[in-house]
Amino acid sequence: MPPGQQTRITDFSHHDSAFARDPFNTITRLLTDEPVAWSTKHDGFWVVNRFDDVTSAFRDYRTFSSQRGAAIPVLNLGGDHIPVSMDPPQHAQYRKVLNPWFTAEAIAAREDGIRAFVREVIEPLAKVGEWDFVPDVANVVPGSVILGIIGFGAQRRAEFLSRMELAMSHQASTDPDTVEQIKRDKEWIDNEILELMRARRAKPEGDLMSVLANDPLGDGNELTDEQMLGVGMLLVLAGFHTTSAAFAAMMVHLSKHPDQRQWLIEDFGRIPAAIEEIIRVYSPATAEGRYVTQDVELGGETLNAGDMVLLNIAAANKDPSKFEDPFHVDFQRDNRRAISFGWGVHRCLGQHLAKAILRIEIETVLESMPGYVVDLEKTVVSDAMGIGFVHDAVPARLVRP
Ligand code: HEM
Repeated sequence: MPPGQQTRITDFSHHDSAFARDPFNTITRLLTDEPVAWSTKHDGFWVVNRFDDVTSAFRDYRTFSSQRGAAIPVLNLGGDHIPVSMDPPQHAQYRKVLNPWFTAEAIAAREDGIRAFVREVIEPLAKVGEWDFVPDVANVVPGSVILGIIGFGAQRRAEFLSRMELAMSHQASTDPDTVEQIKRDKEWIDNEILELMRARRAKPEGDLMSVLANDPLGDGNELTDEQMLGVGMLLVLAGFHTTSAAFAAMMVHLSKHPDQRQWLIEDFGRIPAAIEEIIRVYSPATAEGRYVTQDVELGGETLNAGDMVLLNIAAANKDPSKFEDPFHVDFQRDNRRAISFGWGVHRCLGQHLAKAILRIEIETVLESMPGYVVDLEKTVVSDAMGIGFVHDAVPARLVRP
């Protein structure tokens, strides 16, 4: 900053409703005309769109640091989340503590419990015959499972969700009333985290909080309240909306494409690849912010030390040089290079959990309500895509043969 004379200037903001209303055309424009551009929004930041540039920045954590957080602008629910706002080697210390709780094996051990819970949620809806996939399923399952892993009762999901909703849908809001309400919501969540931490210090149990509350780094120290809030808030936030967004997008897509739904019904082994494809096209995590620590060339532009950079996952995953016919949903596509869960050291901690929840939810829907129909006229896509491709409403009903 300031950008050079040749720099492409854009008014793109991932938080603008214009982006949410027309995401695919906006992404095409960014990839074609503004691969690396300086946005005048949110006090100025670079937006980086092409796959090779985004992945090379994700890999180079020394130049593209996470120390100022991963959100542009800083999230109203705080920016000092752990470990997403840390660089190695400090970052690795926390991942070492958290990773064992989220490995494929650790999640596989929870699968029966998750499946029983998902059935309890979905089967009664099939009996009633009408429901909304967003409040009735998408917003129920991931939140409950994550709260359970941390050590909050899973049944407290609704209370937490109501405190997060405003902040997640108004991430960039500067409206004083909204900011004030989000501050109160944050205080409530902070208090809950610290209360649980104190309870587990007094009497550890078998949950993640019992580990976090008691010298987790093994250096003889307890975490400070600030550190605990940094970890606790991220765990609470990171999995709720992303996983629900992916499920809602899948339900809408399968309703529009009964042939693809039938293809999954014939072989549930096809569901994991279908999930990867849905999250490539309908990114549950739109983009991640980084901070430039030293002058660097990227995509023909010079980025200066001190600049903020937005690594646009939603665009990189649709770069036509890597993904043929990129906006087409093809459940048989090879998605090994897709970066829906990020790339590099911060690659998503919860990806095995998210994939297990989604697979079990989709299987249960296809078993108990295979002929569901989404009311597409009443389906509502959120007008804020800053976080991810979120549906606010996906009303559906069962068509009985
Ligand atoms: C479909 C669902 C999900 C998607 C698409 C997703 C996406 C992502 C992405 C893109 C990042 C990278 C952030 C960065 O580079 O700055 C990330 C990190 C993270 N995710 Fe997820 N996520 C999902 C579900 C979950 C779940 C269920 C959890 C549960 C706890 C979770 C916890 C985290 C955490 C703690 C990090 C930070 C990791 C680090 O900094 O090392 N995510 N996720």
